[in-house]
Amino acid sequence: MKLIAHISDLHFGREDPHVVAGLLADLEQAKPQLVVVSGDLTQRARRAEFARARTFLDALPAPWLAVPGNHDIPLWDVIHRLRSPLGRFRRLITNDLTPFHLDDELAVIGLNTARSHSWKRGRLSSDQLEGARKLLQPLPASVLKIAVVHHNFVPRPDGGGHQVMKEGQRALDIFDDAGVDLVLSGHLHRGYSADTRVHWPGSRRSLIVVQCGTSVSRRGRGEPNAYNLLTLTRDRVEIAHRWWGGDQFVESSRHSWQRDSSGWRRDGETATQLQP
Ligand SMILES: [Fe+2]
Ligand SMILES: [Fe+2]
Repeated sequence: MKLIAHISDLHFGREDPHVVAGLLADLEQAKPQLVVVSGDLTQRARRAEFARARTFLDALPAPWLAVPGNHDIPLWDVIHRLRSPLGRFRRLITNDLTPFHLDDELAVIGLNTARSHSWKRGRLSSDQLEGARKLLQPLPASVLKIAVVHHNFVPRPDGGGHQVMKEGQRALDIFDDAGVDLVLSGHLHRGYSADTRVHWPGSRRSLIVVQCGTSVSRRGRGEPNAYNLLTLTRDRVEIAHRWWGGDQFVESSRHSWQRDSSGWRRDGETATQLQP
């Protein structure tokens, strides 16, 4: 059994320092084996914002794996945007745009979906998808395979965020071949999970998407700062959703997905804390 913390949309530049400290304290207590950051580390891809994001990553109490988001590409700085869209991310966060974690139970691959020309929807190239397939397909069936991207494959449960990943079905088909079971993503600043087959009926196999809200920024869009704690085994994914309660993070809900012969089935959800 493994414990992963899934944080997202940090948006340094618009961060709340009180929440940043609260998140570090909560993670210190939770003791995850890995922290996954699903993009938008900064607000405007400025050097000072990346430096603050890097200081935060260095203070995490566990190894981390991060992918960029659309906000990590400069929007108004056209020269940087066109010549070296992820130059600052590469210099100040990581030069590895396909980070990979492998242990006896989990394989986690990060894939960059941020593009200068598909800022809102993101996309994955054939080379990226083939690379993921080559890496993941040979791994034993006992390993749970997870992809981390920034942009969303499914809309929000209330119908918002209807713009989903460009050519998403092609990516899901290759994830299927590669044996990916779980996609961790952000971008919409809302936390929920869904079976991709609900939005992509052409999918051959069920694959769970777990979305994370904005963990430390003031861009909550009506939802408090939040992150997910995932307890993972090969056949069960338990998601504890933790909200900022004003002075600390608290568990707001918990639900799980169980693998059976037809794919992943969602178990009942327990609300443990009303929205602050
Ligand atoms: Fe964001
Ligand atoms: Fe985003």
